[in-house]
Amino acid sequence: MPSDNKRNIDTVRHYWQTHTLGKQFVFDQELEVGSKEFFDHIRPWMTPYRFKEIRDRIEREAPKLKGRRLLEIECGMGFDSIEFLKRGVHVVSTDLTPAAVELAKRNIELNNMKAEDVRVENVLSLSFEDNSFDAVWACGVLHHTGDTPKAIKEIRRVLKPGGRAVISHFYRKPSWMYYLSRFGRENIEFKDEDAPITDFFTEKEIFSMFEGFKIEEAVQEHYRVLPTARKGYKANIYTWIFLPLYNLLPESLAKHFAYKFSVTAIKI
Ligand SMILES: C[S@@+](CC[C@H](N)C(=O)[O-])C[C@H]1O[C@@H](n2cnc3c(N)ncnc32)[C@H](O)[C@@H]1O
Repeated sequence: MPSDNKRNIDTVRHYWQTHTLGKQFVFDQELEVGSKEFFDHIRPWMTPYRFKEIRDRIEREAPKLKGRRLLEIECGMGFDSIEFLKRGVHVVSTDLTPAAVELAKRNIELNNMKAEDVRVENVLSLSFEDNSFDAVWACGVLHHTGDTPKAIKEIRRVLKPGGRAVISHFYRKPSWMYYLSRFGRENIEFKDEDAPITDFFTEKEIFSMFEGFKIEEAVQEHYRVLPTARKGYKANIYTWIFLPLYNLLPESLAKHFAYKFSVTAIKI
């Protein structure tokens, strides 16, 4: 866990403003950021469809939300928002950084889609009225905010009664990723530098954040260790020793160390 002086919104904003997720997959410096070619190039790494569980979740949720209002929290470059827009959902896409918001706007436009709005928002203090959305979608993000319980409270506040909070995913502990960050002092998840905050929670801690909700689904995801783009000796140990050995574990054992835990909950 970073020292307390790193756990503040300015540090988080600065990191994500300068490390917009997706840019690390651009190896050709000639590729113009924000061009059609740029989005075509990074799509295989960024599309929510790269993970079966996320694809299934979008396909389950979108028909329920057709013609209704969905707020995406921490939209990054907007790839998830686009999938909902294609299915007739009215989407408001938000992110903490102007860099992500500009790229999300461009990506949505290049897909000939129109979001209700794409704008800068901090999930810890959203500017929306109470009870304004039918659903909130957050994918891969709340553990980076520094105050996940507060983020869930804000999400509940802006949801209408009966509204759906679809959170893919919390980072779970114990899990292989948790032990890696704890003992390796970094989680080597991103190419250059770890995010300033990545919080892990037990399942009990996760459930305790959903006061005022009815949990519809809570599932463990991602049993297996993934390749890293990081260089250096820790990354080499990870790639050549830890990854192949860990991935030999039978699924029945590996699943106890899954690091992602996703929750769909209904506001009551
Ligand atoms: C790991 S990226 C995920 C982006 C996107 N959901 C995706 O799957 O590509 C995390 C995102 O969370 C955003 N973020 C971090 N803290 C935030 C906060 N307090 N409020 C809103 N967005 C935040 C960052 O700007 C960054 O775009």
